[in-house]
Amino acid sequence: MQKEIRKILVTSALPYANGPIHIGHLVEYIQTDIWVRFQKQRGHTCHYVCADDAHGTPIMLRAQQEGITPEQLIADTWTQHNADFSDFNIGFDNFYTTHSDETRHFAELIYNRLHAEKYIHSKVITQAYDPVKEMFLPDRFIKGECPKCGAKDQYGDNCEVCSATYSPNDLVNPFSVISGEKPIEKDSEHYFFKLAEFEAMLKEWTHSGHLQEQVANKLKEWFDVGLQDWDISRDTPYFGFEIPNAPGKFFYVWLDAPVGYMGSFKNLCDREGLDFDEYWGKDSSTELYHFIGKDIVYFHALFWPAMLTGAGFRTPTAIFSHGFLTVNGEKMSKSRGTFIKARTFLDHLNPEYLRYYFAAKLSNRVEDIDLNFEDFSQRVNTDLVNKVVNIASRCSGFIKKRFDGQLSANCSERALFQSFIDESENIATLYETREYGKAMRAISSLADKANQYIDDKQPWVIAKQPDSDEELHHICSLGINLFYVIAGYLKPVVPEMVSKAEAFLNTGELAWPDQFTPLTEHQINKFKPLMTRVDADKLAAVIDASKENLEKTAVKAQPSTATKQTEEIADTIEFDDFAKIDLRVALIEKAEHVEEADKLLRLTLSLGEETRQVLAGIKSAYAPEELEGRLTVMVANLKPRKMRFGTSEGMVLAAGPGGDELWILSPDSGAKPGMRIK
Ligand code: 2FM
Ligand code: ZN
Repeated sequence: MQKEIRKILVTSALPYANGPIHIGHLVEYIQTDIWVRFQKQRGHTCHYVCADDAHGTPIMLRAQQEGITPEQLIADTWTQHNADFSDFNIGFDNFYTTHSDETRHFAELIYNRLHAEKYIHSKVITQAYDPVKEMFLPDRFIKGECPKCGAKDQYGDNCEVCSATYSPNDLVNPFSVISGEKPIEKDSEHYFFKLAEFEAMLKEWTHSGHLQEQVANKLKEWFDVGLQDWDISRDTPYFGFEIPNAPGKFFYVWLDAPVGYMGSFKNLCDREGLDFDEYWGKDSSTELYHFIGKDIVYFHALFWPAMLTGAGFRTPTAIFSHGFLTVNGEKMSKSRGTFIKARTFLDHLNPEYLRYYFAAKLSNRVEDIDLNFEDFSQRVNTDLVNKVVNIASRCSGFIKKRFDGQLSANCSERALFQSFIDESENIATLYETREYGKAMRAISSLADKANQYIDDKQPWVIAKQPDSDEELHHICSLGINLFYVIAGYLKPVVPEMVSKAEAFLNTGELAWPDQFTPLTEHQINKFKPLMTRVDADKLAAVIDASKENLEKTAVKAQPSTATKQTEEIADTIEFDDFAKIDLRVALIEKAEHVEEADKLLRLTLSLGEETRQVLAGIKSAYAPEELEGRLTVMVANLKPRKMRFGTSEGMVLAAGPGGDELWILSPDSGAKPGMRIK
C-alpha cells in the first residue's frame, strides 16, 4: 500500500536578535529539529522555518549603545545565530529575519484586513516618557526603589531583593534607565486589536485538539478573567515596521514576530518554487505546527489564531509547548557557570551529546527539564557510546580482517532481525507524539538486546576455534545488521553520528527502518569511532568558560540585618515586617507524590502569569487528586529552598498540628490565582 505523503510546515520560536543562543534555547530547537528530521526520514514533505526576531526597543537601544545601526546589529547577530544552529545540526530549511520585505508585506496585509473588518480601534493612553531621550519607556526601562523593602535600583515590575511584584508607577524615585531622568506621564494614541471579538472562535479552537491539555486548561483561566484588547502599536522612535496610514506609529514587535513565520516561509517558497497559499490559505489541507516555550503561549494560542482568522488565513494544526531548562536543579546562572552559550558548548563538546541528552529527557508535556551534568555524562557514555557504538565496533574488526569487509550471504537469525524491525511503528509513534524520552528507552533496549546476542555468542571465542569461519561470519554480520536498524532509529536525534554510521555501513542515507531487510553480501567500510565518551575535563572547561563574575548580584543577595532580626522569636511584629510577606492566591494545577519522600507532595502552583513548584509536607493529610484544581494560599516571596528532593519555590499555608491533621487554607470563591492577600 502506498503511504500517504503529508505536507507539513514547522516553526520554532524566533530568537531575539540581540543576544546569543544558549542551551535553554536549544531545548526547543533540538526538540523541533528531531521532529522535522523524523518526518523527513519517514518520507513526508516537511519544511522547517525560523528567523531572528529583529524588532523592538531593546534592539534599538542596544545598537545605539554599541554605536552601530540596528540593521548592523541584527545582521551580526544573524550570522552568529546561523552558525550556532548549523553547528548544532539544526536543519532549518530557511533561517531568515523578521526585518524583511516578506514579513513587512504580511504584517501590513494582516493589519489592513483586520482594520477593514473593524477589528482595530484606537484610543489615547498615558504612559511613562523619558523627557530627555524623548521616547516612551517600556516597563523594563524604568528603575527605582522597591516600594516594599526600599531596595535601590529595582526594575519597574519586580524587586530582586524581596521578590515583590508591582507596577512601575509604584516605584519610589523612579528613573529612566536610558537617561537617568525622572519619567513624566504623557498621552499618546495607540492602536488595539479587539481580541474579545474572537472569544467564541478561540474557545472552540483552544478545545479542539490543537493544544496540549495543560495549555488548554491554562487558557480557561484567561477566558475567565476576560480577553483584553491588545495594544499593537508603539510610538517613534522604534525599530520596526511603520503602521500603514499611521505616521510615527510602529507595529509592536509581538505583532510582526509570528508573522515572521510566514515571511520566512514566503522567502523559502520564492527560492524553491513552493506554493505559499497551499500552506497558509484559509482552506489549506496541509499541516502547520509551532513549537514554542510555555512563556509565550498567550501570543500563540490566543492572539495568533485570532489574527489569522480575522485576516482570512488558516490557523495552526497544533501548538506544541515545552517547559524551561534548569541546570543541576536550578535556574541557569551566570555565577555558577550554568548559563551556557551554544558557542561555549561547541568550543569544547560534541553537540550531539546535548541532542541525545535532551531527547532522553523530553516528553510531550509542558514540564521543565533538568540538565544534570553527572546524569548527562553517564547517559551519553552508557547509552550511546558503550551500548550503541560498541555493537558496531565489536563486530566490524572480524568482518574487516577475516571476511574482507563483506557481510555474510544470508541472515542467520532472521527472527531476531525482524524483532528489531517490528519496533518501528512503536518508535515512530513515540517520535510523532514527541515522547522522545520513551523513544530513546525503546531504542536503548534494542541495543541491550543486540549486545546480549553478541555476549551470548562470544565471537572473540569462536574466532579462535578451528573451522569457525562461517559461524563467526554470521554472528558478526547479524551484529552489524542490528546496529544498522538502531542507527536508522537514532538518525533524527544524532544525525552526524548516523551519517558516520552510513559511511561505515556503506548504505547511503538511511530511511526509516520499517522497510529494512538484512544487508547481505554487502561490503562495509573501515570502522572509525562514531562518538567518543564525554571528557570530564572538557565539561568542566565549559562550566569554567561560562562563569561570570557577578559581584554586584552577590552583594545584593546577602540577607539584610532586618531579615536576620526576624529570625528571633518576638511577641509582636511591626506592620512593615508583615508587609514583607507576599501572600498570594495560588491554583494547585498538579499534585504528585515525590518518590522516596514519605511526607512530601510536589505541587505545581499557578500564580496566573507564572508557575511554581512547591514541596509541601502534607502527604499524610491529602491525596494528590483531592488537591488538583483547588485554590489555596501561598507565601510567594520565600527564598527558594533546595531540599533533598528538589527545590521548593514557596510555601503553602496550612493549619493544624500536623500529620493527618492539617488543613490547607482556601480563599472564598471569586479569588483568582496570583491575587495578593493583604
Ligand atoms: O520570546 C521570544 O524569544 C520571542 N522572540 C519569540 C517570538 S516567537 C514568534 F512569535 F515569532
Ligand atoms: Zn523589595
